[in-house]
Amino acid sequence: MHFKGRSRSDSSEEVQVRLDRVSKHYGNAAALTDLSLDVRRGEFLTLLGPSGCGKTTTLRLIGGFEVPDQGSVVIGGRDVTNVPPFHRNVNTVFQNYALFPHLTVFENVAYALRVKRLSGTQLRDKVSAMLDRMGLAEKARKYPRELSGGQMQRVALGRALINEPSVLLLDEPLSALDAKLRRAMQLELRRMHSELGLTFVCVTHDQEEALVMSDRIAVLDAGRLAQIGTPQDIFERPSNQFVADFIGGCNFVDAFSCANGDFLLPGCARAQQSEQQEVRRVLLAIRPQSLRLGAAEAGAVFDVAARVSDIVYLGTAVRLVLSLSDGAVLTAETSKDGVDKAGAIPGAMLRVWALKEDVMVFDTARSGHGPH
Ligand SMILES: Nc1ncnc2c1ncn2[C@@H]1O[C@H](COP(=O)(O)OP(=O)(O)OP(=O)(O)O)[C@@H](O)[C@H]1O
Ligand SMILES: [Mg+2]
Repeated sequence: MHFKGRSRSDSSEEVQVRLDRVSKHYGNAAALTDLSLDVRRGEFLTLLGPSGCGKTTTLRLIGGFEVPDQGSVVIGGRDVTNVPPFHRNVNTVFQNYALFPHLTVFENVAYALRVKRLSGTQLRDKVSAMLDRMGLAEKARKYPRELSGGQMQRVALGRALINEPSVLLLDEPLSALDAKLRRAMQLELRRMHSELGLTFVCVTHDQEEALVMSDRIAVLDAGRLAQIGTPQDIFERPSNQFVADFIGGCNFVDAFSCANGDFLLPGCARAQQSEQQEVRRVLLAIRPQSLRLGAAEAGAVFDVAARVSDIVYLGTAVRLVLSLSDGAVLTAETSKDGVDKAGAIPGAMLRVWALKEDVMVFDTARSGHGPH
């Protein structure tokens, strides 16, 4: 889905970056196909998707490191499709930070200002202020090799921000950090973004990171826009099977939707099926956390018998791998308490069910069920 239906009367003030029907090929292979995307001024937008879906390519088109085969790139109301990177008011933080190894932290951050022929107190004040902001004042005389991953990350950010770009592009900025530092830096990036009021376009393949940091997330699937929306939109109202699965994970079950609002599972309900009217094939999508164990309560629309085939301890939750009689496999996540209450031990038979409000329904034809 792209923005065909969206009003084009958005004032260009609000839209900082617009990709309009952009396509990009490498040789015969399409990296991006007919991608339309608006990034609003001051927004933190994350490009999310699996490896090879075109995230870096999208960023490189905005930064001016690639030119699209078709379509246009507009920044701040100006068509920059063929404008080189240094004439766009955009800065990029690359995944490997690309710091100058022979320059100190101070000189790395000062670099862009020296290129602009700034010097003396003016330069010193600006760089010092940036180092303070990044918590790097004490590292000013150190070299990159003397820094931790998180500190290098902050130098790279400081170096990009000193130019006061209107758009900051970040390609997997936190991928080199360990889990704990990564979570801290996610909040740090968010804080910096709201303090500076700049437009951030960030790439990640980590769905949790995208949910934590972003105002909006654009999910890419094989070079196309699968969905764009707030973290809540994307998680609670995924517009197709791909997004539901990629963000949060899902169990998918083929079913028939009946006129009375019930769902029938193939194999379980052939007899009733012929009595029902307007039976339609659908795909049910149920989050692992939404599957409940034990006797179904009123309002259950999905209720099956399953055998526990594996139990995985996750720390804060427990994951159950459940097999249905037709060979399908479901994943449920619950608390340790929930496992005990349901008597879930390997090999046990359980009832597994879900509440209607926790079941997402996709039309099989529209959701592109099957291989992409
Ligand atoms: N310079 C290039 N030459 C040829 N093919 C390329 C080039 N750059 C990217 N591609 C191809 O274009 C597609 C999109 O690549 P891209 O780097 O944008 O993916 P990505 O979403 O950033 O993936 P990752 O998460 O692995 O970084 C891939 O199939 C990739 O192999
Ligand atoms: Mg990439």
